[in-house]
Amino acid sequence: LIVTNFGGIDLEKHFAVIGDPIAHSLSPIMHQAGYKTAGYVADYQKFQVIPEALGEAVQGLRALGFTGWNVTVPHKEAILPYLDELTVEAQRAGAVNTVKVKQGRLVGHNTDGSGLVRSLEDYLELSEAKKIVILGAGGAAKGIAMALAPFNVDLLILNRTPERAKELAQKVREYGGQASQAAWGPGEWIAQADCLIQTTSIGLKNESYPFSLEGIRPGSVVVDIIFNPWETPFLKSAKTLDCRVLNGIDMLLYQGVNAWEFWFEDRAPVEAMKMALYQQCK
Ligand code: ATR
Repeated sequence: LIVTNFGGIDLEKHFAVIGDPIAHSLSPIMHQAGYKTAGYVADYQKFQVIPEALGEAVQGLRALGFTGWNVTVPHKEAILPYLDELTVEAQRAGAVNTVKVKQGRLVGHNTDGSGLVRSLEDYLELSEAKKIVILGAGGAAKGIAMALAPFNVDLLILNRTPERAKELAQKVREYGGQASQAAWGPGEWIAQADCLIQTTSIGLKNESYPFSLEGIRPGSVVVDIIFNPWETPFLKSAKTLDCRVLNGIDMLLYQGVNAWEFWFEDRAPVEAMKMALYQQCK
């Protein structure tokens, strides 16, 4: 028997992010700034949850009347069996970063890919056919590729292990998108790309990129989905080639904004959330 208090509307609402590690999460600061601006009575905490305790943590959050929570590494796929339903976005990504308690039922959603898409829309008109190259085919790449699948964009996926690129391109096509794969390394694709999204973990290690972007069209949009370091060697080299560069901070912002809007079914105070987030990084 599962008892919940259903987070009554007059009560303070509780939110959290669970992950391991979690100490450096900026989500509490971003969401709390949003509550303040929107005049909501709510709190947002971060909890370190080790993999072995995930199921109990989920039951605990529900029992304590949490309205919703974010899920980060390493739980985004592992949480699936503990949820009652998945949104289309979560099904497509095969991963969950946002949970909402709806009349006692746990609904899993994914705003990572849509967050990246929303941050891209400040730079690119996605409704026109665009050639977008994704570097990498891991979990992050999958979320992004699947979120781009419904748009009229032509995806090209490159990965060090080619089978993973092939599998991901296949999955995008199964969902009605356009995608193919190419060999890991420079090629004709460089001159054709309107946008390049680097999702591998190379930048996290602050390593230099294994191949040059020489030949890329000036003005192309080049994204690295991390923001620590703020400007990866990959983004630095794209900048010297006159590309418009963006790091992962707006992806984090908009995944939070989209989670907020999923929880409250209301527009999020984007500027307040953005300011709070940027203040932590600059
Ligand atoms: P995430 O969920 O962050 O995407 P992941 O699923 O482990 O993590 O994927 C990491 C990605 O970075 C993969 O695309 C990986 O390539 P492989 O599939 O070939 O492993 C890529 N990657 C990591 N280190 C790399 C390196 N030194 N050179 C090229 N690609 C690398």
